[in-house]
Amino acid sequence: MRCLKCRQKAAVELRRHNSAFCSPHYLDFVATQMARNVKRHRMFGPQDRVLVAVSGGKDSLALWDLLLEAGYPASGLHLRLGIGDYSLRSAQTTRAFADDRGAQLIEFDLESEMGFTVPKLSNILKRPPCSGCGLNKRYLFNKIALDRGFDVVATGHNLDDEAATLMGNVLHWQTDPLRRQSPALAASHPGLVKKVKPLYTLTEREMASYCLLKGIDYVMEECPNATGARSILYKDALNRIEAQSPGSKQQFFQGFLDRLKPLLQGEAAVELRECALCGQPTTGETCAFCRMRERAEKHSPKPGTTSKVRG
Ligand code: AMP
Ligand code: FES
Ligand code: ZN
Ligand code: ZN
Repeated sequence: MRCLKCRQKAAVELRRHNSAFCSPHYLDFVATQMARNVKRHRMFGPQDRVLVAVSGGKDSLALWDLLLEAGYPASGLHLRLGIGDYSLRSAQTTRAFADDRGAQLIEFDLESEMGFTVPKLSNILKRPPCSGCGLNKRYLFNKIALDRGFDVVATGHNLDDEAATLMGNVLHWQTDPLRRQSPALAASHPGLVKKVKPLYTLTEREMASYCLLKGIDYVMEECPNATGARSILYKDALNRIEAQSPGSKQQFFQGFLDRLKPLLQGEAAVELRECALCGQPTTGETCAFCRMRERAEKHSPKPGTTSKVRG
C-alpha cells in the first residue's frame, strides 16, 4: 500500500478514510485533524493558557505532544490517584515526557492533598472506584486550572471515548449528559474553566499509531478498575460495527453533533450557585465533591495542603 500524498510505502492504513500514509504524512494528518478541530470549535487561540490533563496514556501524551509541536506552551496536569502500580507507572511516564521536553508539569497527589486514594475512597463510600474517581477528576481539573489562571483544560478523549459515551447516553436516554456532551464546553460561570477535546475525531488506534511513530512512551495497560466497565462493552460493540462498516463510529458521533445537538440547545439551562464550602458552582447547597470529601474525611486523617510544580 502506498501513501496517498507521496506514493512512498505506507506506514498506516486508515480504512474509514479509504487512505494510507507514510510516517511523516501520517503525523501531518493527525496534526491537521487536531488543528481543524481546535479551529472549528474555537477551542483556544495562541493567547490562551492551556492546561492538558495528562494520564500517562497514549491519548493525553499525544495531545500534549501535538500542542507543544504546534507552538502552544501548554502545561500538563497529572493527578496521582493511588491505584497501585498502575498509578506509579502513570506518574513516572508523564514525568519522563515532561522532563524530555522541558514542559511544566503540575502533579497533584490525591492521598497527600485530600487524605484518600481512589481505592480508599471506594472502600469508604462503598461505591465503585470509577464513580468517585470521575468526580475527583472533573472537580480537580477545573479547580486547579481556575486557581492557577489557565483559560482552558484540554483532555485526550478520542473518537472511541466519545462514541462510547454517546452510546451509553442514548441507550439510557440520559438527556442532561447528552446535552452537555460536546468537543468544547464553554465556561458558563466565572467558577468554571472551558473544557475541550481536540482529538475527538481521531480513534484510539490512530492515537496509538501516532505515539508509535513519534516514539512516545506511554502506559499501555488500562486502569485495573476499568475491567468490566460499560464503556468497554460499548467500545467493543462499536468496534465490531466499525470492522464491518468502516466510518460508522465517526458518522454516529458527527451525526449527533450535526443533527441532534442543535435540537437540544433550546432546553432550559440549570441555575448554578456557589457551594457553601468551596465556592465552586453547583446546583445544590454544597457541591457533590465537597459532600464526598466530607464523608471521606470522617474516616481519614487530616490532609496536607500543597501541590508540587515541576519544570
Ligand atoms: P479517562 O477518564 O481515563 O477515560 O481519561 C480521559 C481523559 O482524562 C484523558 O485523556 C486525560 O486527558 C484525562 N485524565 C485521565 N486520568 C488522568 C489523570 N490521572 N491525571 C490527569 N488527567 C487524566
Ligand atoms: Fe479512575 Fe480507573 S482511572 S478508577
Ligand atoms: Zn507520504
Ligand atoms: Zn464544594
